[in-house]
Order: sequence, then C-alpha cells, then structure tokens
Amino acid sequence: MNEDTVKKIAQGYGNDPQQLIAVLLDIQAASGKNYVDRKWADEVSKLLDVPLSKVFDVLTFYAMFSTKPRGEYLIEICQSAPCHFCDAKQVINWFETAAGIKMDETSTDGKITLSRTSCAGACEIGPIAKIGDDVYGNLDEEKVKTLVKNCLEGNLKKETLPCQK
Ligand code: FES
Repeated sequence: MNEDTVKKIAQGYGNDPQQLIAVLLDIQAASGKNYVDRKWADEVSKLLDVPLSKVFDVLTFYAMFSTKPRGEYLIEICQSAPCHFCDAKQVINWFETAAGIKMDETSTDGKITLSRTSCAGACEIGPIAKIGDDVYGNLDEEKVKTLVKNCLEGNLKKETLPCQK
C-alpha cells in the first residue's frame, strides 16, 4: 500500500468528495491489514478536497473502519437480538477457542481479528459471522473451526464453506 495506490483508488471515484466512504473502504481493503493509516487519510483529504477533520469523522463514526492495523481476516460476529437468541454468545466462545485470542484481539501472525457487529440482514440464517463482504450462517462449532483454520492458512474461499447469503 503506497501513495500511488491511494491516488488510483481516489481517481477510480473521480476524486469525488461524495464518494469519501467508498474511497476509504477501498483503501482499507487494499491495506492488507483492514485499516486506514493516518498518512492515507491525509492523502484522501487532499485528493478529494475534504477537510481532514471530516475524513476522521467518518473513520471514527463508522464501526467498520479502523485507524489501527487489524488482522488480514476481520471476523465480525453478529450480536444483535435475533442472532443473540440463536446462541451468538456460544459462537464467540467457539471463535475465541479456535483462534486462541479474545474478542477485539488480533492473532500474533496478523491473520485474524475478532470483532462484534450488529445485524447484517441475514437473521434467518443466524447465528452469523461476517468475514470481509461474506456472511457465514447457521454457525456451529465445526463450521467455526473450519472458518478459523482456513483464515489461519490464508485460504478462505467461499467454496470451502459456502457463503449462505
Ligand atoms: S441479527 Fe444477526 S444477522 Fe440479523
């Protein structure tokens, strides 16, 4: 991730200030560590002609953004009521055990960060977890172990555990 990549991403949106969130999301995805570095926020502010304070407002307001490096795979476990009633608490335990870390921590190899999220609109297949843009539902202990194993091995593919949404 470098200045050129930031420039290319912003250009892809025509340096349009209305596309601030989309630009920041793409930068975060391209970072490889699921975050937006301060220097990239600076660059976006200049390229889109948006005050730096507004860029940081967006980065701090939306839970999906981070200004600190996170794991290559951000695993977000839904904690909203419908999933909660489908034993989402147990799902957290399974992820923590399989990954060997607690919630809001990143594995030492930088592969996985465990996090909470609110409803992803897939309540009918709860309990669910989001990894990147994909939603994995009807989670049980075996599926969680498989997901974590695939993330740690760097080969999470939809076909290894089909996205059900
Ligand atoms: S409550 Fe979890 S996806 Fe809706």
